[in-house]
Amino acid sequence: MIRFSRVIGTGGYLPEKVRTNEEISQTVDTSDSWIYERTGIKSRRIAGADESAASMAEIAARQAIEAAGCDPETIDLIIVATGTPDHVYPSTGCILQQLLGAKNAVSFDVQAACSGSIFALSIADQYIKSGAAKTVLVVGSEICSRIVDWTDRGTCILFGDGAGAILLGASDEAGVLSTHIHSDGEYKDLLYCPNPQAATETNKHEAGFISMRGNEVFKVAVNTLGRIVDETLEANNMDKSNIDWLVPHQANIRIIVATAKKLKMSMDQVVVTLEHQGNTSSASVLIAFNEAVRDGRIQRGHVILLEAFGAGFTWGSALIKY
Ligand code: UT7
Repeated sequence: MIRFSRVIGTGGYLPEKVRTNEEISQTVDTSDSWIYERTGIKSRRIAGADESAASMAEIAARQAIEAAGCDPETIDLIIVATGTPDHVYPSTGCILQQLLGAKNAVSFDVQAACSGSIFALSIADQYIKSGAAKTVLVVGSEICSRIVDWTDRGTCILFGDGAGAILLGASDEAGVLSTHIHSDGEYKDLLYCPNPQAATETNKHEAGFISMRGNEVFKVAVNTLGRIVDETLEANNMDKSNIDWLVPHQANIRIIVATAKKLKMSMDQVVVTLEHQGNTSSASVLIAFNEAVRDGRIQRGHVILLEAFGAGFTWGSALIKY
């Protein structure tokens, strides 16, 4: 019998505090019009002083668990994608397991920068398909505001905080159709954030902050996401017209538009959240997916393409029948 993983619940969380482009332009040499035209972003959310990746993950996860009507003790596996974990260890996954009372779950983190939630979904899908797990919680949670250099106008305009969650359950019916994940460490120097606890003499001056060669990242992202669209459709013997929704990583509206064009999709079929959220890294795809499920755009039976691109470089996609 073929076994699939199916989405049985979704959740999301955004902190209350809003930081607008106008506020940023008071501290660095930029403007609302420059940021909006080049990125599509107007504002982003900033976590409160007592919030953390785990506390935000808990809120998103509880929503997904409630939507699925499941008991946390039935969760077999928790995978948290984050580049801003509460601790070096234990993993944010273990902290979340305790917060949820999901005492039967194996828990760990995945670090694949902005592609983290697609990597986590891919792992979750393999566990369910192989029969090793029945119910898997995937969460992306990020406090990007704490690793952003607020004096660097090339990066501080982009990022925001938030968490998204998907609960997957084993099913006889098709759900996750395929996942595709890739890495290429040749590009490690275009986008990085050295760990301050493990900094070397050479990189300690930039440790703890995001460094990015934005324009170079942009070009590779557009080409790579174009390729992963083809790879995903070919693997499923599908045509562009079979896709109902594109749920892209929310890094830059120009990257999203390029991917939609490649798919010949109208922007009405693309879930865009970045205008008021910015780039929430590994959380962005899951937050967007949850929003479109909850506002009724994504309906049972729809085919959805999720994709992401991030530091590493890492990139990936998931094709899901909801
Ligand atoms: O999620 C992980 C993956 N990350 C991404 O996908 C991000 C990809 N990169 C981007 O989104 C874009 O490259 C940025 C939004 C970061 C930058 O946009 P760009 O169109 O690539 O601009 P640029 O870096 O080529 O810079 C063009 C000009 C430069 O000035 P000169 O040299 O032409 O005089 C920059 O110094 O814009 C200047 N600039 C700014 N001006 C006003 C750069 N940042 C700003 C700013 N405000 N915030």
